[in-house]
Amino acid sequence: MAGKNSSVVCVTGAGGYVASWLIKLLLSQGYTVNGTVRNPRDEKNVHLKKLENSAERLKIVKADLLDFNSVFAAVKGCDGVFHVASPVPPGSVPNPEVELVKPALEGTINVLKACSEAKVKRAVIVSSVAAVYMNPKWPKDRVMDETCWSDIEYCKANNQWYCVSKTVAEAEAWEYANKTGLNVVTLCPTLVLGPMLQHATNASSLALVKILREGYEETENNLRKIVDVRDVAEALKLVYEKPEAEGRYICTAHAIKNRDLVQTLKEIYPNYNYPKSFKDGGNMSEVSSEKLQRLGWKYRPLKETLVDSVENYKQAGLLHN
Ligand SMILES: NC(=O)c1ccc[n+]([C@@H]2O[C@H](COP(=O)([O-])OP(=O)(O)OC[C@H]3O[C@@H](n4cnc5c(N)ncnc54)[C@H](OP(=O)(O)O)[C@@H]3O)[C@@H](O)[C@H]2O)c1
Repeated sequence: MAGKNSSVVCVTGAGGYVASWLIKLLLSQGYTVNGTVRNPRDEKNVHLKKLENSAERLKIVKADLLDFNSVFAAVKGCDGVFHVASPVPPGSVPNPEVELVKPALEGTINVLKACSEAKVKRAVIVSSVAAVYMNPKWPKDRVMDETCWSDIEYCKANNQWYCVSKTVAEAEAWEYANKTGLNVVTLCPTLVLGPMLQHATNASSLALVKILREGYEETENNLRKIVDVRDVAEALKLVYEKPEAEGRYICTAHAIKNRDLVQTLKEIYPNYNYPKSFKDGGNMSEVSSEKLQRLGWKYRPLKETLVDSVENYKQAGLLHN
């Protein structure tokens, strides 16, 4: 979109897993980035200062999603915004309405309003396949595409509060865009894996760490849909830069049953403490990234993602029991 490499963009939740890779990519392409964090002095954000070109072109801005003025200060003067921040807990939380839904929804509203006021040319919202796949009415044998939306009541009934938070936030983004004419694009990644730039392990990386470390007696043989974090960063840049990008984009690369995933890992790394047996995980529909691929998106092989992840976890000392 707005262009080339002299653009200034804002990335919310800068210290997080996906946002860190996005910022690294944007800095490497000449962008100037305002990256928001809640606490600039927190140790968990130090990796940002080590990114190439960060001294010259990364400005860390203190902002809380629930505080409009702080969000507006970060967005003001930007050509584009990548709204990445949203709570992603590794498990259930005691008060999901407050801890998950409120920051996801109000955060998105605050970011979009700030975009309108600051006359931002395009806002890219990171949604999730969690806003796509919880739909019991979708025919089981049909591949899910961008027309499929998670059913909020069904998510609530099944205690899937992360899915609720992502669905209400993305739905609100589209309502806002339709009402105001703000140029919005959303990206819905599946499970994001690949090496971490940050020190604190994020929820999706933890899922793979546990497969390697926990030695579960039994686990579900469900179908995992995986995408590399570096390919997600490329997808975000692509949907920002391509003028013809519009609507939602599912971002997924590989669908693999848990048992096959473990087998693939074992062939490369035979000695980790893998799950011992698998039970039927039910038949979930596949999801497709055809629309994103038509825009020019490409993804790397699964083995590369897995090897780079494991090597990264080893270096970080995450695989010892
Ligand atoms: N990883 C995946 O598998 C995956 C898949 C699909 C979609 N996504 C989406 O991708 C985005 C990034 O996820 P991630 O995996 O990178 O998770 P992450 O590392 O946990 O990053 C989440 C970020 O959101 C920030 N945040 C949370 N609540 C906030 C608030 N109230 N105000 C300001 N910032 C807040 C966090 O900041 P603090 O560090 O201050 O807490 C953190 O920087 C999320 O929108 C997530 O839903 C992730």
